[in-house]
Amino acid sequence: MGPLQIKEILQTAPENQSVVVKGWVRTKRESKNAIFIALNDGSTIHNIQAVAEPGQFSAELLLTITTGSCLKVTGLLVPSLGSGQTVEVKITDIEVYGTADPEEYPLQPKKHSLEFLREIAHLRPRTNTFSAILRIRHALAFAVHQYFNDNGFFYLHTPVITASDAEGAGEMFRVTTLDLNNLPRTEEGAINFKEDFFGREANLTVSGQLEGELGAMALSKIYTFGPTFRAENSNTTRHLAEFWMIEPEMAFFELKDNMDLAEDFVKKVITYALTNCKDDLNFLQNRLTEEEKNKPQNERSLPLLEKLAFVVDNPFERLTYTEAIEILLKSKPQKEGKFQFPVTGWGIDLSSEHERYLVEKHFKKPVILTNYPREIKSFYMKLDEDGKTVRAMDVLFPGIGEIIGGSQREENYEKLLGRVKEIGIDPENLWWYLETRKFGTAPHSGFGLGFERLVQFVTGMGNIRDVIPFPRYPKSAEF
Ligand code: 4AD
Ligand code: MG
Repeated sequence: MGPLQIKEILQTAPENQSVVVKGWVRTKRESKNAIFIALNDGSTIHNIQAVAEPGQFSAELLLTITTGSCLKVTGLLVPSLGSGQTVEVKITDIEVYGTADPEEYPLQPKKHSLEFLREIAHLRPRTNTFSAILRIRHALAFAVHQYFNDNGFFYLHTPVITASDAEGAGEMFRVTTLDLNNLPRTEEGAINFKEDFFGREANLTVSGQLEGELGAMALSKIYTFGPTFRAENSNTTRHLAEFWMIEPEMAFFELKDNMDLAEDFVKKVITYALTNCKDDLNFLQNRLTEEEKNKPQNERSLPLLEKLAFVVDNPFERLTYTEAIEILLKSKPQKEGKFQFPVTGWGIDLSSEHERYLVEKHFKKPVILTNYPREIKSFYMKLDEDGKTVRAMDVLFPGIGEIIGGSQREENYEKLLGRVKEIGIDPENLWWYLETRKFGTAPHSGFGLGFERLVQFVTGMGNIRDVIPFPRYPKSAEF
């Protein structure tokens, strides 16, 4: 449908036929005998080379063909004499759709830093690196839907605007239509949210889980895949204020089933990318190797494709939080005082340096940690028999840390109500959630995968801001 794309032309168009190529100029090179134009339309990492003869076109026209300009080129697809491509286009006609003044156009054919490219997020998809990332991101999203569809899950669209704080962490963005300069007040002087759009306080969702559970209590296996918002002021390479989360929720799944699903799911979607994004992954692998070439051998990471294959081919290590604490207490960095946050004992919240020690140094593979202390986990997690731990599971990945957080859910009404009150949520606000435990409650489990963390892992990118087209983070909402 529509005009042929460069990917199709390179793969399937028969030689010695006329083709029309539309795309953006990556480079223009002039030699004595020919003018070479490399065109790319984002359909593939590969450019198509178009060749003109000197004198074939006016100097005036040629001057307007510069990096970033957009062209329609007509010509004959012929075998290429040059190395690097099998076919090229012998140009018969050029139409310039749009110029890009080299004095102004910021993307010149040289290496730009990722930081600089973040400032021009409206143009960075035109670079090899970002177009590769975006194509892989698309493939992973497709694989997610395919996986769940093939396994009997239904896609449930949970709301973006909510009145509840699913994680109980208070990191929410407010949604309001009130006039901030003229707020309606109650008689006591508090802001009167009854006059707000929804007649109550409302926020952007931090998770679709609570509504996901409602779906699972009817359809058995559902998943959500949508934008998620957290107003946590963390300027890290792994946090965004707006990210996409995938949250399956399954009736009749216990913690072990949940772990099995999480492991199978990530392995299958990574396998999909390995099979379907070879050229882009190879490009990113070379990019990383180049980036690390000045590092000493023992500090270099595994080549990207090997790293991905390793994760797909090996079982994840599974252990409890309690076992992890024992390992950390005996670890070298702990003994030598190298942890920024020393492990003081059972009950502490693990920081990413602890998680990364377990994954990268101790086990050297992905780890699933389970049965965390109840105090450091969310109110909805099922209490273990000992009354101290909950049926939580975090999946930890090399270079990333936590990629999945999930649990078996508390299905007992009284226990759940107790936990809700304990952490200071008004049960009135969650009456609908609590009612699922009153009417036909069932054991159930689920988890949340941070989509950008997955894309980060698969592309090998160091900063999460580079794996979403238009990142949102503290003090930044441009584009
Ligand atoms: O561990 P979290 O907070 O779990 C939940 O929200 C549960 N309701 C999920 C569930 O059981 N249905 O978040 C889940 C995952 C994390 O493991 C991480 O990968 C990602 O979401 N995540 C973020 N990704 C980017 N930026 C942030 N600020 C993130 N916060 C969480
Ligand atoms: Mg978590």
